[in-house]
Amino acid sequence: MHSPTRGLGRVMVFLAAALASASLAIPEGWGEEGVQYGQVGTDVTLSCAGARAGSPVQWRREGAAALPEGSAVHQGALVLPHASLAAAGTYSCHGEDGSLLHTVSLRLGHLPGVPFVSCRASDYENFSCSWTSSLETFLPTRYITTYRKKSLTGEEKRRNKSGHVGPCLQDPSRAGTCTVHRSEFWSSYRLNITEVNPLGSSFRLLDITMQAIIKPDPPEGLVVEPVPLAPRRLYVSWKYPASWPKEPHFQLRFRLQYRPVIHRSWSVVETVNLSEVITDAFAGLEHVVQVSAKDFLDAGNWSEWSAEARATPVRDPATTASEGTTTDASLESLAEEPSQAPNPEPINRSDPLEKMAILVSLGIFAFFILAAVLVITILIWLRVRKHSKDETKPHNFLVAATHLKALPRTQILP
Ligand SMILES: *[C@@H]1O[C@H](CO)[C@@H](O)[C@H](O)[C@H]1NC(C)=O
Ligand SMILES: *[C@@H]1O[C@H](CO)[C@@H](O)[C@H](O)[C@H]1NC(C)=O
Repeated sequence: MHSPTRGLGRVMVFLAAALASASLAIPEGWGEEGVQYGQVGTDVTLSCAGARAGSPVQWRREGAAALPEGSAVHQGALVLPHASLAAAGTYSCHGEDGSLLHTVSLRLGHLPGVPFVSCRASDYENFSCSWTSSLETFLPTRYITTYRKKSLTGEEKRRNKSGHVGPCLQDPSRAGTCTVHRSEFWSSYRLNITEVNPLGSSFRLLDITMQAIIKPDPPEGLVVEPVPLAPRRLYVSWKYPASWPKEPHFQLRFRLQYRPVIHRSWSVVETVNLSEVITDAFAGLEHVVQVSAKDFLDAGNWSEWSAEARATPVRDPATTASEGTTTDASLESLAEEPSQAPNPEPINRSDPLEKMAILVSLGIFAFFILAAVLVITILIWLRVRKHSKDETKPHNFLVAATHLKALPRTQILP
């Protein structure tokens, strides 16, 4: 079970970092009969296996006597100094009588480069890494892919100091990728992707955490529908990507992008729901809509955009109605945003919440204005009163009395 505090930990984002790389020379058998591998730019020596010591031999290339420039026979062996790629081919050595003693196929190439590696998790249980070689070696190549788990919990650390080591499994049907199954969202992993060829090997280490590399697949089943009687509305719904296991602790949030087909710029709206009503569509214009997903707590990356879906909002009922004789009031109220010529600005969202917010803020504004007016009035009144008190009281009283007398009856009465 995942506790809420662990859930908070997911917000932390650890960036994958390339750590180290190295080249090692570990020649191995590549199971090819009669093939010799050589490194471009080095001196390559081909020995004549069947020759008797001391007896002269003759070397041929592809059956012809012409050998690469600079090559020399030394004690029966053919030496190709600073071998170039062009020196590759089939060589044969022959005895004095021209009899074939030995044939060797020379393949020349480079040491492996440090591969480029990137990792991605399309759900929170498994992650995959893919790689490409950084150098064309011209030689057969394979990859050794392993990981070491660095657990974040102290207990596991004490139990297993070095961390769990396992293979990143390679699927023959998907070249250049490997998968770590049942990975832990809270652990970090050090991937070791080693490129190996007959001349040597070269590895790249990559530190990753699920939080940083998670990238859901795009949502599926996107449907866009016009809303009856609402010329500016489109109802959009979609489903979780099938690859995302549904569990309350790992949810997705979404963003929607939409535009009339004839416009260039997208409007974007975010939601945590599996449906959304677009309220600022253009009546009668076909719209294109796409949706993408991200981990609910913002870990990792947004998915790619889903496949497009298209729909056209209903034609403006107001214009239709004005052509007829009667205007249906209920029809207008349903449509809510009655019919104007399409706004030139494609992005002009006005949902009911926004309107409410504007009304509320107007109300608050009016209240403050009234309050300010009241305060100012009171202050002026107080000041006037103080001022008049400072003057001779009898005079003041007289003035007041005359005032009172002058006032109409109705105002004196309480
Ligand atoms: C993760 O890998 C396991 C083991 O292969 C598999 O059973 C599981 O379905 C995978 N999870 C997802 C979401 O694909
Ligand atoms: C990476 O893997 C290769 C091949 O298994 C191994 O030779 C090399 O030592 C590893 N590097 C590290 C740093 O673990």
